[in-house]
Amino acid sequence: MKGLVLAGGHGTRLRPLTFSGNKHMIPIANQPILFYGLKHLARAGIRDVAVVLGPIHEEIRETLGDGSALGLRIEYIHQGDPKGLAHAVLCAREYLGQDPFVMYLGDNLLQEGVEEFVRLHAAEHADAVVGVTTVEDPSRYGIVELDGDRVVSIEEKPASPRSNQALIGVYLFEPTIHPIIARLHPSRRGELEITEAIWKLVQAGGKVLPHRVSGWWKDTGKPEDLLEANELVLRSMPAAAFESRGAIARGAALSPPVGLGPGTVVERNVEITGPVVVGAGAHLGEGSRIGPCTAIGNGVRITGAEIRGSIVMDGTLIEGPVRIAHSLIGRNVRVSKASPGGGEVSLTLGDAASVRL
Ligand code: DAU
Repeated sequence: MKGLVLAGGHGTRLRPLTFSGNKHMIPIANQPILFYGLKHLARAGIRDVAVVLGPIHEEIRETLGDGSALGLRIEYIHQGDPKGLAHAVLCAREYLGQDPFVMYLGDNLLQEGVEEFVRLHAAEHADAVVGVTTVEDPSRYGIVELDGDRVVSIEEKPASPRSNQALIGVYLFEPTIHPIIARLHPSRRGELEITEAIWKLVQAGGKVLPHRVSGWWKDTGKPEDLLEANELVLRSMPAAAFESRGAIARGAALSPPVGLGPGTVVERNVEITGPVVVGAGAHLGEGSRIGPCTAIGNGVRITGAEIRGSIVMDGTLIEGPVRIAHSLIGRNVRVSKASPGGGEVSLTLGDAASVRL
């Protein structure tokens, strides 16, 4: 069994923001989104994984390297412009050979992992296993109509959805999918659609099994999705995952679970309400109130500010009596406020932004 993780696309498009790096490297609970799928593959016993890259990819290669830190052997496949999910499989055709493979969309987060996909495939001799879950806004997703475990129809982002069962971005395929993909034509939006390939597999008599995922699932297409994912991940992290390697001054009040990276300093009169993770070399100065459900990156400096339900990325500086909630704050941002007063603010700031409130 091999793994195929998609991290292509234009990479920086996270409307309405532009981050300098690839969107798959945006941190959720201080780990790039992409790591979650890779770790799930490793946990399911998959060792050989190809990561599909788009035009913006340097940071991904630099961070993941050969994958050994994650217990994987990672190879890279350059897709170039995003011509569709099935096009990404086409680009990986030689790498995948005659092996079955788990395909994981790199911007998806899944609580339960992929073991059940692998188990179902082996137990039921399926040609494909597709993850499904109930959604409220079906026209945003690939939608599958089911009769028990039988797939009745599948459509990509239908205008008039026939069900509320969405394809999550995790699939397992036998190599029988390759000749079908080779014959696909671009869809109306100009992409080779994996959803269409799955439908053609069903029509050709292939055994396509739905797997209803338990636990939460998040497609991180929008800033608010990232904040929700951050909260979900932080709330479901085991206590042991919150390492405390920082220096805490007497007079600081920490309510666990709180993780502090090496070299991080928490001054007196700071309150942290978990779940919170703080990276390495951060400085939480006097009068700061952090959490719950907040992730603070490496080298961040915060003084006198309140921050909850937010992601603050590496190298950012927040100063003054500002109250920040549900905010996505990029790398090397400066936020400052000179005098107390005013309500809570919710900010979405791309890399290197500078805001004086
Ligand atoms: O999130 C689940 C949905 O993912 C499914 O319900 C849909 O059926 C499926 O088509 C997909 O829809 P999205 O609109 O969310 O796909 P998106 O274009 O955002 O791409 C998903 C991931 O795949 C993302 O991490 C970028 C990567 N990608 C995308 C394309 C189009 C590539 O690596 N190459 C590509 O050509």
